[in-house]
Amino acid sequence: MRSHRMPWKDFLAQRQAVLDSWPTGRDVTAIEDGLRYQRGIPDEKNFAKAMARAKAAGQTLLQPRAGVALIDDHIRLLRFLETEGTADLLPTTIDAYTRQNRYEEAARGIERSRTAGTSLLNGFPAVNHGRDGCRKVTEAVTKPVQVRHGTPDARLLAEIALAGGFTSYEGGGISYNIPYAKKVEVGQCLRDWQYVDRLTGYYEENGISINREPFGPLTGTLVPPFISHTVAILEGLLALEQGVKSLTLGYGQGGHVLQDLAAIASLRELADEYFREAGFTDFDLTLVFHQWMGGFPEDEAKAFSVISLGGFVAAAGRVEKTIVKSPHEAMGIPTKEANASGLKATRQVLSMMADQRICTDNAVVDREKDLIRREVGALMSAVFAAAGDDLVQGIVRSFAGGLLDVPFAPSIYNKGKVLPVRDNEGYIRLFAKGSLPLGNDIMSFHKERLQERSKAEGRPVTFQMVTDDIYAISKGKLIGRPK
Ligand code: 5AD
Repeated sequence: MRSHRMPWKDFLAQRQAVLDSWPTGRDVTAIEDGLRYQRGIPDEKNFAKAMARAKAAGQTLLQPRAGVALIDDHIRLLRFLETEGTADLLPTTIDAYTRQNRYEEAARGIERSRTAGTSLLNGFPAVNHGRDGCRKVTEAVTKPVQVRHGTPDARLLAEIALAGGFTSYEGGGISYNIPYAKKVEVGQCLRDWQYVDRLTGYYEENGISINREPFGPLTGTLVPPFISHTVAILEGLLALEQGVKSLTLGYGQGGHVLQDLAAIASLRELADEYFREAGFTDFDLTLVFHQWMGGFPEDEAKAFSVISLGGFVAAAGRVEKTIVKSPHEAMGIPTKEANASGLKATRQVLSMMADQRICTDNAVVDREKDLIRREVGALMSAVFAAAGDDLVQGIVRSFAGGLLDVPFAPSIYNKGKVLPVRDNEGYIRLFAKGSLPLGNDIMSFHKERLQERSKAEGRPVTFQMVTDDIYAISKGKLIGRPK
């Protein structure tokens, strides 16, 4: 495949329209101003460097999600999470209007929040607050800060975020489209994300490390590891192509401890192999593990259990970072106290595990790792075959043909024919593969495992079983067994 690094003149040709899409775009016209500002940020507040340090030290860093409408409230929130919550890394979660480029509605949300004296947006509207608003936030805290969002066209947000002192940017052209949007065309979104990665690459070329993190968990609903791994590796390849160097790939907790540990280990190995195979050598790969992204129990004590099990897997899997949930997860956006308590619960597990080594060198983990390797291999080969010499086109064609298919995603560009379900031990398996290019050897293993459950429960594998599994954890179990 030939390199499709976006020529700088093509980047600049788009840039004016991007910056013109909202008045605050004017403040970031001079890229050099962003570079100069970033050069003044101390190393300990640089996200990419924090991830590299965690990797060298074998540490797992803690990061919450958080974002409110107004700058001062947002600063208070982040300060609370770093002091009371002991967060190692900070987020700035972006509101839903900004994610859809609806800046006028975000502006009204800001006004109404001022009047109401409380946040009426579900995140921080960074584009509306602009470069200087973002700088206020990143300057007010002592830890590195990342923008976390869910924006298909995140070009303006990226321009403002990087000029505003954020040193990490979440998302990717698949992971911030297919699970988030209904009608955004795959190729268009991938090209918009090439812009984001090219901007990041430009900062790198100018000596400023900016961390990029594709969104690993996708829909967070029974996603088999090989599907999210394939997407993560593809987004990693696209980012590296544009000059990104600090890359954090993610995986969302599935709930079966050994499958999760196998998934974490294989993500690290496979990503490294595919990147090197594609000719990349100068990258810093780290991992993030997301605590359970599916439905949570309402009961706070039960929620803490889900959080703590996730904390255990993050520690045992030796990932560099874990994203923490709160005991308010079933209710919606947490108060700052609930958010801090999720961090503290996780901190307790991580510290108790800090010096322990959980041996994952066993036959079951090996079996799962081997399965994931074969499954990822099948999908990656199919995407490469569909790509010719253009990975973006390969991904577009693969979604159109169902060679890539994300379970339970809203996008009309996703076939939605894949159905996952748990086996009798709780591993996430495939009930229906849709058009995924998986061979009979792989599918017969999935089938066998599901027959075992079917027999144990005395019912056939049906969509009902899938639904039962989706709600199981919120109801206190891993597997959705009939009563
Ligand atoms: N503050 C804190 N958490 C948030 N989430 C979304 N927006 C915010 C916010 N502004 C969390 C949800 C869920 C995850 C997808 O993101 O609570 O855990």
